[in-house]
Amino acid sequence: MNPPSAENIYLPRVAVLDRVEDNIPDVKTFYWRFENPADQRAFRGFHPGQFVQVTIAGVGEFPASLPPSPTEDQIFFTIRQVGGCTAALHRLRPGDKIAVRGPYGNGFPMEQYQGKNLVFVAGGIGLIPLRSCIVYAIAHRSNYGRIAIFHGAKTPKELMYRDVLAACQQTPGVECHLTVDRGDNGWEGNVGVVSSLFKKPGVAMPVENTVAFVCGPPVMFRFVIRDLLAMGLTERDIISTLERYMKCGVGKCGHCCIGVAYICVDGPVFTYEQIKRLGEDI
Ligand SMILES: Cc1cc2nc3c(=O)[nH]c(=O)nc-3n(C[C@H](O)[C@H](O)[C@H](O)COP(=O)(O)OP(=O)(O)OC[C@H]3O[C@@H](n4cnc5c(N)ncnc54)[C@H](O)[C@@H]3O)c2cc1C
Ligand code: FES
Repeated sequence: MNPPSAENIYLPRVAVLDRVEDNIPDVKTFYWRFENPADQRAFRGFHPGQFVQVTIAGVGEFPASLPPSPTEDQIFFTIRQVGGCTAALHRLRPGDKIAVRGPYGNGFPMEQYQGKNLVFVAGGIGLIPLRSCIVYAIAHRSNYGRIAIFHGAKTPKELMYRDVLAACQQTPGVECHLTVDRGDNGWEGNVGVVSSLFKKPGVAMPVENTVAFVCGPPVMFRFVIRDLLAMGLTERDIISTLERYMKCGVGKCGHCCIGVAYICVDGPVFTYEQIKRLGEDI
């Protein structure tokens, strides 16, 4: 897909922050729009799983996933504060300006998965890139079979996008299961790692004709993959996104390469079969 700024692939477009929302500790969601309505219209064709490069003037640039589904009206990203750029973003307020280029990357092949059951497994902020696919699949509910969402976090306060997950639970044919490593006084749900949910009584995990979207920290990824394969999913039926240091985001600088693959253009979405072929040790 051509980025909107096709005449100069490095040219970011000015965007204005409309709203900033606290999510979980150190994580905020930034709702924004391009200053130029033509840029806004051109951007609407993004796919779930794509990313953008965000510039904070005078500080730097960093990659960010697009958690909204293209079926939603607002554009936003959800960012954990970890270093210089993300801390500078966290200091911004509504009305402040940033710059954005993209969308970049391949995205999840949601159309190819029509007719299949979808399983989403997200650990912590791994739910950020999967949110887009979940909302997209619910918006195109009749195109998919059963949908099962499994989300785990360290504590109840760190569970992401509770509003979206609550809405999913009200949708026929969609089940949503939450777990935490450590409960608190108000927590009555499951305690344990996310894969501990798969075989719990009352959980009907689809396996046949199923694709599993898995995102989260490496240790979670390894255990979830092991369990999904043991349940009968194939390596081709498991799909994820790879996060690598990126500079250009458009296949020019080589910063993101693993073997022959440019994660920014060949990915960031890969099946587990492809990830293994890349020799990637997750
Ligand atoms: C395709 C893609 C999508 C991303 N989407 C999101 C998102 O939706 N939300 C979000 O919060 N973050 C996301 N990230 C990670 C985000 O880009 C980094 O946290 C950001 O670049 C850090 O910049 P900084 O200047 O604040 O921190 P820095 O000062 O650059 O780094 C601070 C710390 O974070 C580590 N770090 C920085 N970048 C990465 C990276 N890419 N992978 C692993 N560790 C890193 C550094 O090693 C260092 O320890 C994404 C990364 C990629 C490649
Ligand atoms: S980030 Fe430059 S080639 Fe991928």
